[in-house]
Amino acid sequence: MSQKISFNFDNTKFMASDADVKAIQPKIEAAKKTLVEGTGEGNDFLGWVDLPVNYDKEEFDRIKKAAAKIQSDSDVLLVIGIGGSYLGARAAIEALRHGFYNMVSKEIRKTPEIYYCGNNLSSTYISELVQVIGDRDFSVNVISKSGTTTECSVAFRLFKEMLEKKYGKAEASKRIYATTDKARGALKTLSNEEGYETFVVPDDVGGRFSVLTAVGLLPIAASGADIDKLMQGAANAREYCLEKSFDDSDVLKYAAVRNVLHQKGLGMEILGNFEPALHFITEWWKQLYGESEGKDGKGIFPAGVDFTTDLHSLGQFIQEGTKNHFETFINVVNPRAEVVMQKEETDLDGLNYLAGRTVDFINKCAMNGTILAHVDGGVPNIRIDMDTIDELAVGELFYKFEFACGVSGYTLGVNPFNQPGVESYKKNMFALLGKPGFEEMTAELKARLGE
Ligand code: PA5
Repeated sequence: MSQKISFNFDNTKFMASDADVKAIQPKIEAAKKTLVEGTGEGNDFLGWVDLPVNYDKEEFDRIKKAAAKIQSDSDVLLVIGIGGSYLGARAAIEALRHGFYNMVSKEIRKTPEIYYCGNNLSSTYISELVQVIGDRDFSVNVISKSGTTTECSVAFRLFKEMLEKKYGKAEASKRIYATTDKARGALKTLSNEEGYETFVVPDDVGGRFSVLTAVGLLPIAASGADIDKLMQGAANAREYCLEKSFDDSDVLKYAAVRNVLHQKGLGMEILGNFEPALHFITEWWKQLYGESEGKDGKGIFPAGVDFTTDLHSLGQFIQEGTKNHFETFINVVNPRAEVVMQKEETDLDGLNYLAGRTVDFINKCAMNGTILAHVDGGVPNIRIDMDTIDELAVGELFYKFEFACGVSGYTLGVNPFNQPGVESYKKNMFALLGKPGFEEMTAELKARLGE
């Protein structure tokens, strides 16, 4: 059960002392028990707990075959989905594959360009994406558990039409891969009628916990990342999370420390990275914690920063602004690539003292300097050390964040596996769009908008 990720809490102790952590330990252990025994609210959405070892092997093989077909017949793969039906795949692909994936030559990338849509309602975005595809060969993976999410349905309708115009209905249907509910919903019905290959979003896995199902795995495999290793990393984490007692578990301590800090009045956790490749890991994490904890007037607001970029924008606020936050940094111990600073004849920029040093050494000094400065400014810091960014580590990170989220949510006293608040804006939008069945709300909302 070798682990590639560990947590360091040294720089939280000035606010979350050992005694504070000890005091919350019974609640954390009870929350873990509730989660593992499936006795809490939302217990019909716990399929993700055993997913790394208990998944549909036949479907897993079909995912690999579909990915190979997409790689062989498509220059571009469009991934249509939003929220939990999109962020995990993008997080893994952007972490694991080339930092300039769509821009490098096919010789380097080897796999199709990948673009994401159905995650906004921008007509500009959609029409410019049509231009990017041009007359090149493309396939679509449309991902929607409900099959009725507006953003996703709008984009799918347009790109389905584009595929059918280009290839004819029969060939288009061989280029559409639908990941949806196994039996219900508009997308499943359409897939049955049109003969699309379908993959399943399991009933007992919610969107934000679905990255290790076909939702994430098909696009990740199509990108050329190794999904066997990704699952292995998650399986290693699962064993760790289930077996380790509180004293030996970084994951339970993460849940404990963030709850202690929250009880002390810190309402925001800022996840920071020092590797641009991790930007979408942060976006995925924001949804995971935001939708899981933010309800019943409770929760820690999950924010994200990309350092060192944001040290030049939000750094000032984090250091000296309103003190309502703590930070969690992901430190990649061994970067994928190294760059060594060279000596220059004339030292006009004064950087010759760094000759022979790596850029990563400078990055680590920036990170450590930031941690110390923010701690001096009263901002507690949790550091997550990730050995390197590879499939094993990313699979482990996904699972450890998910497990800590479940434990943390139950500790906080919420159901971490529902998202009732997401529906509110949708009802208003449907009323304003004039969707049949929403007539009563329409007049009232239009009056409020002064229309
Ligand atoms: O986590 C969630 O449940 C949401 O973010 C959903 O994944 C998102 O709203 C997309 O829903 P669907 O997959 O039904 O299109």
